[in-house]
Amino acid sequence: MRTKIIAGNWKMNKTPSEAVDLIRSLIPLVNDSDPDVVFCVPFVDIPYASEELKGTNIAVGAQNMHWEEKGAFTGEISADMLYELGVEYVIIGHSERRQYFAETDESVNKKVLTALDHELIPIVCCGETLEQRENGDTLDLVRGQIEKAFENVSAEDAAGIIIAYEPIWAIGTGKVATKEQAEEVCAYIRLTIRDLYGEEIADSIRIQYGGSVNPENASELFSMPDIDGALVGGASLKVDFADIVNYK
Ligand code: PGA
Repeated sequence: MRTKIIAGNWKMNKTPSEAVDLIRSLIPLVNDSDPDVVFCVPFVDIPYASEELKGTNIAVGAQNMHWEEKGAFTGEISADMLYELGVEYVIIGHSERRQYFAETDESVNKKVLTALDHELIPIVCCGETLEQRENGDTLDLVRGQIEKAFENVSAEDAAGIIIAYEPIWAIGTGKVATKEQAEEVCAYIRLTIRDLYGEEIADSIRIQYGGSVNPENASELFSMPDIDGALVGGASLKVDFADIVNYK
């Protein structure tokens, strides 16, 4: 049995004081929940989030990082910097990073390898555009994204990685994938991992769905055999996030 993992992706929302307010409201609601819970907050909120979440079961995540150790990369953040602040997870290759900041499958792979080197757990994002779906390219595209993201990743490390399947057409649009659509791709991602690493790792790796998840649709998505939780954007910015974590 895989433990579900629900991660909030706050994107570019919440100042440090707003972050503290939301975290204080959420701690009593999600601290003893069954799924693993992660708050992926903006970089500047991380020290505050870490402080607030000390001694709880809730983990802090970042939304991006650079693959280099250090150096002349103005505006970038390294894995060491995140680790020192108590960050446990890092979202890598979110579609907004690919779309607006020119991230590629290659940069995703470099970041995955660096994150693993620094004991950060990558939440690797993949997913298709509406046009790619309509052209029937979804499964091949996602397989390619996963194969590249996992290049040179050992079997031991692979098992701990979180994969987030996020169809781009479902992100921030209110247009959630049906549970069948989400399950089809998540099952195919598991098959891809099986081809790369074998049955045991495929069975243990956790695969989230992301894209317009809310308290109303969460439980039916989570009832599907290959969906092990969610990466939640808009609905993670309110206390109702607790209703997704505590889905029935
Ligand atoms: P959404 O975003 O829940 O607002 O659709 C999900 C994501 O981008 O991770």
